[in-house]
Amino acid sequence: MINFDNVSKTFGEGDHRTAAVDDLTIEIPTGKITVFVGPSGCGKTTSLRMINRMIEPTSGTVLIDGVDTRSIDAPTLRRGIGYVIQNAGLFPHRTVLDNIATVPVLQGQSRRSARATAAELLERVGLPESMGQRYPAQLSGGQQQRVGVARALAADPPVMLMDEPFSAVDPVVRAQLQDEFTRLQAELGKTIVFVTHDIDEAVKLGDGIAVLAIGGRLAQYATPAEVLSHPADDFVADFVGRDRGYRALSFTAAGQLPVHEEPTLRLGSSPARGPAPSSAPVGEPYWVLVVDDARQPRGWVDARRLTSGRGVELGDLVLGGSLADPHASLRTALDAALSSPSGRGVAIDADGRVIGTVAARDVLRAIEAARVNAPHSPGQGTSPGAGAREGEADPAAAAVPS
Ligand SMILES: Nc1ncnc2c1ncn2[C@@H]1O[C@H](COP(=O)(O)OP(=O)(O)O)[C@@H](O)[C@H]1O
Ligand SMILES: [Mg+2]
Repeated sequence: MINFDNVSKTFGEGDHRTAAVDDLTIEIPTGKITVFVGPSGCGKTTSLRMINRMIEPTSGTVLIDGVDTRSIDAPTLRRGIGYVIQNAGLFPHRTVLDNIATVPVLQGQSRRSARATAAELLERVGLPESMGQRYPAQLSGGQQQRVGVARALAADPPVMLMDEPFSAVDPVVRAQLQDEFTRLQAELGKTIVFVTHDIDEAVKLGDGIAVLAIGGRLAQYATPAEVLSHPADDFVADFVGRDRGYRALSFTAAGQLPVHEEPTLRLGSSPARGPAPSSAPVGEPYWVLVVDDARQPRGWVDARRLTSGRGVELGDLVLGGSLADPHASLRTALDAALSSPSGRGVAIDADGRVIGTVAARDVLRAIEAARVNAPHSPGQGTSPGAGAREGEADPAAAAVPS
């Protein structure tokens, strides 16, 4: 556990005085990822660096497991704290393996055993062992960040500080790094303080999120779901953005959604009673779900456009989102329903077989019931009445996430 007790930091004096961090009191739980998020200049890096004493507070106390960090000498303190920064900060003239082995060697491990551990760590962060002989400049940005993470893990510190570690890589690689980082943390259970300016990254990675405002004020400290559904004030509401209602759906279970029976057509077979039933409204497509022999969904076909007597071929299919678990989040359900040409999301069982469909209207109704701002379509703004913004700011939302 890391505690900030009334910690402030000001830089400069007189007219040039900057309040970087303003009276920060926060408890960071052991074994979890806590994200400091906020716009540039709001004191995230300063806060992070006060944990390992790269920056000393102007006033207040930082404690790790109840011990005032000022009572531990800085090198000893930093040995128990891994530190990862943007652009990895690797030593350019050392090989990847030697970069990772740096701290263990400084701590007195033999180079040989430190390199052996480094090779294992490479694999852990998803890089081939052969990469160990390369120099940082010979790696892509994403690979360098992985090496940076491996290096921070090398001394197996209980605490990791990560300052925008994934911000300098392209969005696709960033998403991969985030996924692997989540997987790694599930194995390691480190106490991680992660800094980012990206609310999506904060929501994705954080067990708890501390939203910092300009001037180093803690605007809200809560779980991602709470920050999205109940922003503590206008600043947080603006910062998390207009589509927060849609993001919040990720945390809303879709437990009560009805799964409807869905007639299916096997690939290669033709509809038993001709292209489309006469009951279907004329002029509109009549979507039929096509499955393979294993009853796994392959796509949708407009039965009106099928020539009688011919079997359905892959080329006839329109692909639509399938829904892994009908009781997963409302966001998954909404994505599946809205990305399907029929407006029905396909629900499948653990073996990937169709068990029925979830209707968009049911998902939307469930969203209303969950009193989350109902979005009109994925990725877009929420409904005009941004409910959580006015009058709903709950003082309890600033509580420490459990
Ligand atoms: N060494 C320094 N000297 C003077 N001002 C600084 C120094 N470091 C940071 N600041 C100022 O403190 C504020 C917070 O900076 P920082 O913690 O780096 O913000 P963030 O990481 O959120 O972008 C900014 O206004 C920044 O200009
Ligand atoms: Mg910073």
